[in-house]
Amino acid sequence: MAEKVLVTGGAGYIGSHCVVELLEAGYHPVVIDNFHNAIRGTHGLPESLQRVQKILGKEIEFEEVDLLNKDALSSLFDKHKFSAVLHFAGLKAVGESVEKPLLYYKVNLTGTIHLLEVMSSHGVKKLVFSSSATVYGDPKYLPIDESHPVGGCTNPYGKTKYFIEEMIKDQCKAEGDWCAILLRYFNPIGAHVSGRIGEDPQGIPNNLMPYVSQVAVGRREYLNVFGNDYNTPDGTGVRDYIHIVDLAKGHIAALKRLETSSGCKAYNLGTGVGYSVLQMVKAMEKASGKEVPYKIVARREGDIATCYADPALAAAELGWKAEYDLDRMCEDLWRWQSHNPTGFSTEH
Ligand code: UD1
Repeated sequence: MAEKVLVTGGAGYIGSHCVVELLEAGYHPVVIDNFHNAIRGTHGLPESLQRVQKILGKEIEFEEVDLLNKDALSSLFDKHKFSAVLHFAGLKAVGESVEKPLLYYKVNLTGTIHLLEVMSSHGVKKLVFSSSATVYGDPKYLPIDESHPVGGCTNPYGKTKYFIEEMIKDQCKAEGDWCAILLRYFNPIGAHVSGRIGEDPQGIPNNLMPYVSQVAVGRREYLNVFGNDYNTPDGTGVRDYIHIVDLAKGHIAALKRLETSSGCKAYNLGTGVGYSVLQMVKAMEKASGKEVPYKIVARREGDIATCYADPALAAAELGWKAEYDLDRMCEDLWRWQSHNPTGFSTEH
């Protein structure tokens, strides 16, 4: 029988792409989400998961559960025998986290504490956590490997990722048979090759590529480039963009690794290659055949000049490596954006 894996926040951008890979790899995902950042479809399912069902022709088991409701979470664990948990659920907007820090600490930290408590009381001891390269703060050296110091985050969102990592490490120390993997994502972009699921930010996109693709599709007039006076080849910020499907596959590799390892370990999920904002604009223009007008504006507070991963540890220990190049990331992003100009609310 297929192993049952709980996926928290599985209706979101990263979660929904992981659900595809889990099903393809023969797992039985049970997905929960609170619809904070997901559009409702019909039959009680999030629209994203309804589309995953169409892509794969498979049913997905879903329940609307909020991690702040510990009783509901506990009932779910009474009902299913999970072999592992993939934990994506959480708030993720950097700017909002500065304005509403307590909301971020309540939702991200309390939600995770409930999850760890319920896992512990039900004897579920394997966890993959959706962390971020943001835990490294301002890079002290490049490329960033997993031994780079962590905790220098400037905003509450980033701090919640760091605090959760620490909570999970302590829990693994306290209960020696626990086993957890912290996946530190660099900058996930792109979409499933079907063009049916992708990133659908609510309101004005905070991140670069959703904004660029909305300019290309005509939803926004031009991109604001946040500074061109950084110490980088063209003066604009450099990041390690990784295809969302590669990132999702990293979770399958982590799940496999959990079968044979113990303790808590962090891995970078990145490509090891950095591209500037202007290189990303050019790549999107090539993939879409559309012009992406931009204006140079002031730097965004809290931004760093350059950030890219050393992905060697994940290659050595998880047997995972990013495979898709920048052209492919932009082609897949464009397929999603052009077929769904208004995201999941686009009728088909
Ligand atoms: C941001 C967050 C980070 C989070 C990550 C993934 C900040 C300060 N950091 O990282 O904590 O983990 O997203 O969600 O918000 N850019 C523009 N114009 C835009 C948007 C972005 O020029 O409209 C530039 C940025 O200055 C940066 C690059 O594009 O150089 C990438 O930005 P973004 O996609 O927001 O990712 P990060 O800054 O790496």
